[in-house]
Order: sequence, then C-alpha cells, then structure tokens
Amino acid sequence: MAEDIFFFIKDTLIIKNPKKSPVLLRMIVIVFAMVCGLYICSICVKQISSQTKPKFLNFEVTVRPCHDCNIDRYQIPYSHYPKPETFNRAECACNPVRFFAIISMQRSGSGWFETLLNSHINVSSNGEIFSLKERRGNISSILKTLDRVYNLDWYTSASKNQCSAAVGFKWMLNQGVMEHHEKIVEYFNVRGVSTIFLFRRNLLRRMVSVLANSYDRYAKQLNGTHKSHVHSPEEADTLSRYKPTINSTSLMTDLKQLEVTALKALEYFSSTRHIIVYYEDLIKNHSKLVDVQEFLRLPRMDLTSRQVKIHKGPLAEHIKNWEDVNKTLMGTSYESFLSIDY
Ligand SMILES: *[C@@H]1O[C@H](CO)[C@@H](O)[C@H](O)[C@H]1NC(C)=O
Ligand SMILES: *[C@@H]1O[C@H](CO)[C@@H](O)[C@H](O)[C@H]1NC(C)=O
Ligand SMILES: *[C@@H]1O[C@H](CO)[C@@H](O)[C@H](O)[C@H]1NC(C)=O
Ligand SMILES: *[C@@H]1O[C@H](CO)[C@@H](O)[C@H](O)[C@H]1NC(C)=O
Ligand SMILES: *[C@@H]1O[C@H](CO)[C@@H](O)[C@H](O)[C@H]1NC(C)=O
Ligand SMILES: *[C@@H]1O[C@H](CO)[C@@H](O)[C@H](O)[C@H]1NC(C)=O
Repeated sequence: MAEDIFFFIKDTLIIKNPKKSPVLLRMIVIVFAMVCGLYICSICVKQISSQTKPKFLNFEVTVRPCHDCNIDRYQIPYSHYPKPETFNRAECACNPVRFFAIISMQRSGSGWFETLLNSHINVSSNGEIFSLKERRGNISSILKTLDRVYNLDWYTSASKNQCSAAVGFKWMLNQGVMEHHEKIVEYFNVRGVSTIFLFRRNLLRRMVSVLANSYDRYAKQLNGTHKSHVHSPEEADTLSRYKPTINSTSLMTDLKQLEVTALKALEYFSSTRHIIVYYEDLIKNHSKLVDVQEFLRLPRMDLTSRQVKIHKGPLAEHIKNWEDVNKTLMGTSYESFLSIDY
C-alpha cells in the first residue's frame, strides 16, 4: 500500500515535472482562447440576429398588407406596389400597379390607342420615351429608363402618379427593341411587365400614312406646322390631300420586310405575358378596348380620344400611282390590302 501511494505520488510528481508543465500551460491557454472565441462569436451572432429581426418585421409590416387576397396566384407576379422616390403614393400605396409596354410600329394607330388608354383615370402611358437616342444607345441606359418608368418616377403629361393602376409607354420596333431583345425580354419576365402588341394588318395603308407623314414633316408642311395626328375632319382633309407615290418596284420586298419584322418581334416576346391588338379591329369594334382593360386588370371605363383618322375611304384615292400599285399586288398574298378599308 505504502508503495502504491508512493508510486502514485511519484507519478503526480512526474506529471508536475517542470520540464512538462509548459505543454500543459499551452493546452490551458489554447482551451481558454477557444472558449473565449466561442463566447465572442455567440454574442456576435446574437447581436446580428437581434438587429435583423426588427428589419424583417418592418418588411412584413410595410409589404404584406398590400397583397390583395382576391388576386389569383397566377396574377401576383404582375401586380406591383412601386415606391417612387419622387413622391408618395399616399392612399393609393396599396393599389396594385400593372406594368405594360405597347410594342408597335410608326403609323399603326399607336398614338390614337395611347390617347384612348390615357383617357382612363388609372392609366399612365408615357409616350415614345425611347425616341431619344441616348436612352436606347446601350442596354444599361434602356434598363435604367425602364426602372424609372415602372417606379413611377417618370414625368409626362400622362402621369397619374398616386393612383396609377397601369403604367407603361409605347415602344417602336426601330427604337432598340429588336437589337436588345434578349435582355429586354429577360427584364420583362423578371419584373412582370406585360406586352401589348399593336400592329396594323393593312401594311399598304400604313405605307401611305408613313409617306404622307414624312412628306408633311420634311418636304412641305401642309398648314404651316407639321402635324402627325389631327383633331378635326378639316385638318384630316388637308393632310390627306397629298397623294404619295409608292415605289412599285420595291413594294413587294418592302411589304415582306415589314411583315417579317413584326413576326420576329412576336417571336422574341412570346415568352412575356402579352396580348395582340390590331388597329383594324380596334376601329371596327370598340369592345376590343374592353379586352385590353381586362388584360391590364383595370376597372372598366369608356375610353375616348379626340384624334381623327387622316386617310379615309378607298386607297385608290390616296395613292398617286394607283394603277401601278394595283397591278403589282394583284394576285399576290397582299392583294387584300388593295380593297380592305381603314
Ligand atoms: C450607355 O449610354 C449612356 C448614355 O448614352 C452612357 O452615359 C454610358 O456610359 C453608356 N454605358 C455603357 C456601358 O456603354
Ligand atoms: C383609380 O383612380 C381613382 C382616382 O384617382 C382612385 O380613387 C382609384 O382608387 C384608382 N383605382 C385603382 C384600381 O387604382
Ligand atoms: C391651319 O392652321 C390654322 C392656324 O394654325 C388653323 O386655324 C386652321 O384650322 C388650320 N386649317 C386646317 C385645314 O388644318
Ligand atoms: C424604287 O426601288 C428600287 C429598288 O429598291 C430602287 O432601285 C429605285 O431607285 C427606287 N425608286 C425610287 C423613285 O425611289
Ligand atoms: C367585338 O369584340 C368582342 C370582344 O373582342 C367580341 O366578343 C364581339 O363579338 C365583337 N363584335 C363584333 C361585331 O365583331
Ligand atoms: C385593280 O385592277 C383591276 C384590273 O387589273 C381592276 O379590276 C380592279 O378593280 C382594281 N382594283 C381596285 C381596288 O381598284
């Protein structure tokens, strides 16, 4: 027994041997440091989580109540609650806003269509915002412009500000849409922008309108100032008195090219939520406007415009070299353009 105790003591003595004690001390220091580190970390984590909690709560408080329970789930990506930097949506902060873009070509009735839309108390359609080159020069300036429009920070006479339920603009195919279509479609799909295609079936009539309009603008202003849209039958008469000559040699290829461009646009944007509207259908049947209002989920209203159609009646009266044009298109797939009105 005494021996055992002796050995035990000896052992402990050996452990306490001064030679080995630095190792033990180091171990103790390391363990202490680890415990301290863990403690500091745990405090940090606690502070971070206690900081983010109120933020998260704020987020819930400001955003959640705006979602309308009556909206079907499919529509949620297309209902937005913008927070403009330049003003406060005030009592309309929780009215959902739809984002749209009218994709069209010049002289296809988009000006008229836009005045109809803007006669709705809750629609802001801001015109051809990409007619300025510096806004469409590269994709980053395009996206920046889009952000401002859809954040309701874009000011035009059409802005309804607080109580807009649909906000958009019109975009001509020759204003950067086709060049940058991939990034634009991606933006539309991520931000939930709906596309309204507005095309004209009768491309020959469109051609007459283009030629007459550019004649009035560049060659001879019929009544002192250039007018691309008119508000009285007399003005329309003045403008339609000019009869353009259509190049019948290039007519077929010109029409084909217009058709191909429109089809390409439809193809590029087919993955976006979209509706196709034809100018001729709008003229014939105003209830097409109901479809558009439904598409934008707007409260239904009667829409009005003061614009007057410029070229009325048979095309034969509006084209100088009608016989040439008639002969060129007779028997082709464009023959119907000769006789269809509007
Ligand atoms: C895009 O265009 C804008 C305006 O024209 C210009 O200020 C900017 O530097 C351009 N950005 C790029 C990436 O080219
Ligand atoms: C439409 O505008 C009116 C008047 O500004 C507003 O009272 C109404 O709430 C708006 N409707 C929608 C759906 O935003
Ligand atoms: C021509 O312009 C004048 C003044 O700008 C206007 O009073 C008149 O109605 C216009 N006439 C037509 C036919 O456009
Ligand atoms: C008509 O089009 C043809 C083919 O594109 C072209 O060679 C000709 O110069 C054009 N004529 C006029 C008057 O513009
Ligand atoms: C007008 O359009 C509506 C809706 O698009 C359609 O239901 C109706 O049949 C059309 N009416 C005529 C006369 O074409
Ligand atoms: C086009 O020309 C044909 C004869 O070549 C004629 O029968 C037809 O009435 C003309 N069409 C129009 C719309 O003038």
